[in-house]
Amino acid sequence: MEQETNTSPDSGHAADWHIPVLLEPILEHARRVCEQKSAPLLVDGTLGDGGHCLALLRALPGARYIGFDQDAHMLERAGRRLMAAGLAVRAPIRATDRIALPEPGGVQLVHGRFDSISTCLSVSNLAADWVLLDLGVSMFHFRSAGRGFSYTDEKLDMRLDFARNETAAQWLNSANQTEIERVIREYGEERFAGRIARRICENRPLESARQLADIVRRVYPPGQRLHPATRTFQAIRIHVNDEMSVLQKALDSIPDILAVNGALAVISFHSLEDRPVKQVFRKLAGPRQHRNKYGREEQESRSERRPFEILTPAPILPDAAECGRNPAARSAKLRILRRLIDNNNT
Ligand SMILES: C[S@@+](CC[C@H](N)C(=O)[O-])C[C@H]1O[C@@H](n2cnc3c(N)ncnc32)[C@H](O)[C@@H]1O
Repeated sequence: MEQETNTSPDSGHAADWHIPVLLEPILEHARRVCEQKSAPLLVDGTLGDGGHCLALLRALPGARYIGFDQDAHMLERAGRRLMAAGLAVRAPIRATDRIALPEPGGVQLVHGRFDSISTCLSVSNLAADWVLLDLGVSMFHFRSAGRGFSYTDEKLDMRLDFARNETAAQWLNSANQTEIERVIREYGEERFAGRIARRICENRPLESARQLADIVRRVYPPGQRLHPATRTFQAIRIHVNDEMSVLQKALDSIPDILAVNGALAVISFHSLEDRPVKQVFRKLAGPRQHRNKYGREEQESRSERRPFEILTPAPILPDAAECGRNPAARSAKLRILRRLIDNNNT
């Protein structure tokens, strides 16, 4: 495979590609999980700029890659980058379309949310050897998407997929104060949620991201370490894109997407995302409950094989060197779950 030479992001600066987080542990685990397979199927639920994809295909050159993103612009950027690196890239399909397996070393792009990975694979009777979810948005969204993710004079939109849901401005201008407060408190873990929601309602209609950032800034006492609007913007982005229910649905579909010996790796960036990942992993890898002949719940005997195992008893965190190189990696946590047996056949 060629090195990247003749392509750069929209800005024209190659340094603007999203820097893939926790790349070394991802590559190490993917190699180990896929070592017995000559042409493993890798599924990336969050292709973004394709940084993990490029590195994984360099580490596993015989792998076939399916890359999802719900943002059509990201698929266009990643497609351009991957083709320039010499990969055979197929134009985006939808998750409900029948998929023809890409050739070894090739990539099939899919425009869709990662909770539709199970639909996509089942339509074509496929199971994945490696699945990656690198949650959240990419540096492109913060720096240059112009969709209201940064605190500047951008339209307050925040949608990743334009075909879905209302914009952040439409929602903030129509929801009631209690609902806005709930979202900011729940998804932003924001202690000033009540005051922020009240000020938002007093200052409607909101149009730009700067207006929202200024409202939040005026609520906060001066001298904060984080930008005061960080938590509020995160909360509204999560709400607008339905992020928590999409994540839960994807986690619930793990038994439908992983091949035997296949693994799912999830990189999360805050406790709201990490909590359901940890819970579902523990549930799938924990002792199974049976009903005994009297109808009582009993745990499986020790000799029974569990269908899943957790490969990361504690989450893998970036080291100081990675955080120095890429401050966006600071809060990342990587958890990996592996399927051991087909529990439908036990
Ligand atoms: C953190 S970036 C991924 C970066 C990527 N791993 C790389 O190395 O370039 C997350 C990407 O996932 C996409 N995304 C977020 N939520 C998604 C979802 N539920 N389904 C599909 N794509 C999603 C975003 O549009 C963004 O491009």
